[in-house]
Amino acid sequence: MSLQEPYFFAHDAGGKRLNDDEPAETISEQEFPQETLAAAQEAVPGGAKPRLDRPYVIAVANQKGGVAKTTSVVSLAGALVNHEQEVLVVDLDAQANLTLALGKDPGRVRGSITDVLFNSATLLSVSRETNIPGLDLVPSNAGMDVAERFLPVRQDYELILRRALLGELRQSGANPGGALRPPTIHYDFVLLDCPPSMGAVTLNALAAADLLIIPTQPEYFSAFALRTMTQTIRQVRSRYNPELAYRILITMFDRRNRIHRDVADQIRAAFGEGVFETVIAVDTKLRESAVEGLPITHHKSQSRSALQYDTLAQELIAYVQ
Ligand SMILES: Nc1ncnc2c1ncn2[C@@H]1O[C@H](COP(=O)(O)OP(=O)(O)OP(=O)(O)O)[C@@H](O)[C@H]1O
Ligand SMILES: [Mg+2]
Repeated sequence: MSLQEPYFFAHDAGGKRLNDDEPAETISEQEFPQETLAAAQEAVPGGAKPRLDRPYVIAVANQKGGVAKTTSVVSLAGALVNHEQEVLVVDLDAQANLTLALGKDPGRVRGSITDVLFNSATLLSVSRETNIPGLDLVPSNAGMDVAERFLPVRQDYELILRRALLGELRQSGANPGGALRPPTIHYDFVLLDCPPSMGAVTLNALAAADLLIIPTQPEYFSAFALRTMTQTIRQVRSRYNPELAYRILITMFDRRNRIHRDVADQIRAAFGEGVFETVIAVDTKLRESAVEGLPITHHKSQSRSALQYDTLAQELIAYVQ
């Protein structure tokens, strides 16, 4: 029996699946491709899990570019910090947008995620504090340009980040007799910002994560990306990380747009509990906050998107507890 099978059973038993009673014609092919709904049946969200005795690791990924992956990492991190959570964000993208969005110059950072993936540096040794107490960053820089090419050369390359992360996280629990121990990671959440591709780097993040958040715009082409994502989730579950759960986050939602409303409905119908209740609407203030180098929750705390990311943080905290 393959590792994937229990997920099918779990899905059939309890998870929401495509409603067979619903006529297929309600899904307009022009707005949301039929195959994607079929793919929805192939990958299944894991259920709520008990709080771990180590940080909860979340990968934010979508092979599609510009869907608010980085924005969601920064904004969710800001919101979690406001709820007294300690958060480490890790920039895995050579574009280093997360590093920039937190006000750091990627050209000037000394240690970066490259050192972890290629030189066995610990995450702790390359992490730094941001201007926001409780929020630390492992930055990226141009060194990550070569990651997709050179990572696969290494043995078990998919597991490098998982080993780095879990090795350090585990140490944090063990302190028998109060003896001196190595520096440890003591965060509540670790958020991994992935590049817009399903290559070696994103695979590392998915192998390391407890939860995958897939930011998705409610647009026609998003359906194709979701299909690829569900296929990837199946592979990652069967090969490296059987416990990987996922949640789709609908972003840049414009409720005046009929296509947006329809596609969002179709995504919910197809993925059921695999979609966050919280939806992030279009908000140009998010662009401003990136320029300011601050999460929206700290730049404009009463703006619509700040409040929505706050709601998302609450939904997430409730989910992991
Ligand atoms: N809810 C929103 N409303 C309006 N603009 C948004 C919203 N979320 C993100 N943006 C803007 O959309 C652009 C893309 O966002 P972001 O960089 O977070 O996407 P990404 O998925 O990380 O992109 P990439 O694939 O290049 O890494 C940015 O200019 C960002 O400010
Ligand atoms: Mg990004």
